Amino acid sequence: MSTRRRILIQLDTDAHPSVFDSIVALDAGAEVLLRYGNVRPENVVPLVHGAIFTRGPKDLHQTAIFIGGSDVALAERIRDEVRKTLLPQWGLSVSSLLDPNGSNTTAAAAVRTVLRRFSLNGASVLILGGTGPVGQRIAHLIAQQGAEVRLASRQLSKAEEVVARLRSRLPAARLVAGETATESGLREALRGCQVVFGSGAAGVRILPKALWLGQPQLRILLDLNAVPPSGIEGVEPLDDGIVRDGVLCFGAIAVGNLKMKIHKTAIAKLFERSDYHFDIDEIFALSETL
Ligand SMILES: NC(=O)c1ccc[n+]([C@@H]2O[C@H](COP(=O)([O-])OP(=O)(O)OC[C@H]3O[C@@H](n4cnc5c(N)ncnc54)[C@H](OP(=O)(O)O)[C@@H]3O)[C@@H](O)[C@H]2O)c1
Repeated sequence: MSTRRRILIQLDTDAHPSVFDSIVALDAGAEVLLRYGNVRPENVVPLVHGAIFTRGPKDLHQTAIFIGGSDVALAERIRDEVRKTLLPQWGLSVSSLLDPNGSNTTAAAAVRTVLRRFSLNGASVLILGGTGPVGQRIAHLIAQQGAEVRLASRQLSKAEEVVARLRSRLPAARLVAGETATESGLREALRGCQVVFGSGAAGVRILPKALWLGQPQLRILLDLNAVPPSGIEGVEPLDDGIVRDGVLCFGAIAVGNLKMKIHKTAIAKLFERSDYHFDIDEIFALSETL
């Protein structure tokens, strides 16, 4: 058995590596954190070399890399550089987890929460705030469940761009862009939907109760915004499957509990092997086991 300490190398795109991610990592079993801020793709090679050329292959599962920060696209480029720099053909690899701004673990928790109560196959699903990091990943996951995904933004062109990008990765997906800056746009987007994910910015009300109340087909409302006021009016942060006005409601704190479990489990898994690489699909698969 290896006696090496479990080292997590935290690569963050922001100036100050996320305190949240550091604390979760320590609580999940990392023993030493090496935290780097302002990481850019061009700085990655020496950081990864430091990780893989120190301990031998037998102990490399005791070293792992976490990639985070608020710039999701940049974090993905950093992940690509990390993967390119590893040398698995010689056993010189470490596991990695990509979770910029908690987007992957949060989207996995949100979609898993709904799937535990409702099949999304054939359902019409609206994602409000769908252009953000979390909303985009929710769309990615539910499109693969056979749902019709309505991805909404205050600007139709922004929603269309995201839909085009998702479609290039998932050609069979049923994706529609929607505009929700106006009440009529919101009503149109909601029409016929069984499930609504509220994935708008923190502290922003994106759906008034008057608009969802009395929609006969609506089954589930899930809101991710924990900063008052709630994103979806009428859904409370602690709601964990409470029926309100005939609709099953899930709030941000209830979903956040599952998000934390997923996040910690993924960190712990990094230290089991040196060839795990967790992105949205792997994290979602992991959520099924919790
Ligand atoms: N519960 C948890 O465990 C947990 C964990 C992580 C994140 N979260 C929450 O999940 C939500 C989504 O996260 P995120 O990082 O994807 O959010 P985000 O990028 O900050 O915002 C998502 C979308 O909201 C829309 N938006 C921004 N400002 C707005 C405004 N003033 N009015 C209306 N819409 C606005 C934008 O879409 P358009 O410009 O296209 O309209 C944006 O793309 C946030 O509320 C976040 O706090 C929860």
